[in-house]
Amino acid sequence: MDRVVNIDALTYSGNPINLSDIEDERYHFVHASINDKNTVARLLEQEKIDVVIHLAAESHVDRSINSVQPFIATNIDGTRVLLECVREREEKGQNVAFVHISTDEVYGSLGTDDSPFTEETPLDPQNPYAATKAAADMLVRAFVNTYGISACITRCSNNYGPNQFPEKLIPLMTLNAINGNSLPVYGDGKQVRDWIHVNDHAMGILAVMDGLISGRVKTGEVINIGADNEQSNIDVIRAIIGYTNADDTLIQHVNDRPGHDRRYAMGYEKAKQLLGWSPIIEWKDGLAQTVDWYLTNTTWVNTVLSGEYRDWVKHHYTDEREQG
Ligand code: TYD
Repeated sequence: MDRVVNIDALTYSGNPINLSDIEDERYHFVHASINDKNTVARLLEQEKIDVVIHLAAESHVDRSINSVQPFIATNIDGTRVLLECVREREEKGQNVAFVHISTDEVYGSLGTDDSPFTEETPLDPQNPYAATKAAADMLVRAFVNTYGISACITRCSNNYGPNQFPEKLIPLMTLNAINGNSLPVYGDGKQVRDWIHVNDHAMGILAVMDGLISGRVKTGEVINIGADNEQSNIDVIRAIIGYTNADDTLIQHVNDRPGHDRRYAMGYEKAKQLLGWSPIIEWKDGLAQTVDWYLTNTTWVNTVLSGEYRDWVKHHYTDEREQG
C-alpha cells in the first residue's frame, strides 16, 4: 500500500486548509522544514521512503528581488539537505528515487520569434529566484554524477489553479478584481507566460516519477512540462476582468519588475514521446473554474488575506511603483 508523507514548513504561503480534506490513513503530514536534516533523515529511514518528490521552494520572483537570502536557504541549501539524506540512505542500501521540481525560469527569457525552450536550452537565469533554482538543478546533477543517486529534474511553466497564494498573477488579479481593487500591470503587460493548470502539472510529475522508477527516465535526465498556452499578462488580466465582471478602469500600469523576463514557452515534446504525457485542461475552462474557485471559497480567501499577505502587498505595491 503506497503512503505519502508530506513535509512542509508552512511558511507565509503554506496553508494547512489546502489539505484539510485529505482524511486517509495513508497520508501523513509533518510540520518541518527541509532544512532540518535530522527530521528529514529520520523520516526517510523510519517511513521507509522510496521516492522523494521535492517541491519545496521559495518561488515568488518579486520576493527574491526584495530579499535573496530565504531563496538561497530553501532552494539551494534545502535541496542540499534532501540530497545528502537521500545519499545517506542509498549508502545504507535503501533505494530512494529523487524527483526534483524545477522551473522554466532557469532557461532565462525568450525573444518573440524564438522557439520554445527544450531540455537542451542552456541555463541562463535572470533573477535571484531563477538563479537559486538553477543552482539547485546543478546540485542534483552533481549528486547523480558524483554519488550515483537516482534523480531526475522536471522543469515546468507557470502554474495556475485553486489554492494558489495570491501573490502570483492569476489569484492576485482575481481577488483584486472581485474586491474592486486596482490591477497592477508591470510595464506594458505584454510579457508572455505559458500557463499550465496545476492538475496537469501534478499528472506530469507522477508520469516522470513512474518513468524514473521504471527506468524509462534515466537518472540525471531533465523533462520539461508545459502547456502550449502562451498568454500575455494583459490578456490574462482582461480575461479575469471578463469572468469577474470587473471594470476595465481597475487596470493600472505600474513600474516594471527589474530584470523582468519577457517571454517563456516550454517545449514538452520529450514528456509526450517518452511518457505519453500531455496537458488536458483547456485554458479557458481552467481559468474560468479557477476564478470561480476564488469567488466561492471565501473562508480560504479570508484566511490568506489576513496577516503577512497584507504586509507584503503594502510593502510591494506602494505608491512609488505607480506610474500614474
Ligand atoms: P508571477 O505570477 O509572479 O510569475 P513569474 O514571475 O514566475 O512568471 O507573474 C507572472 C507574470 O505577471 C510576470 O510577467 C509578472 C506579471 N505580474 C504583473 O504584471 N503584476 C503583478 O502584480 C504580478 C504579481 C505579476
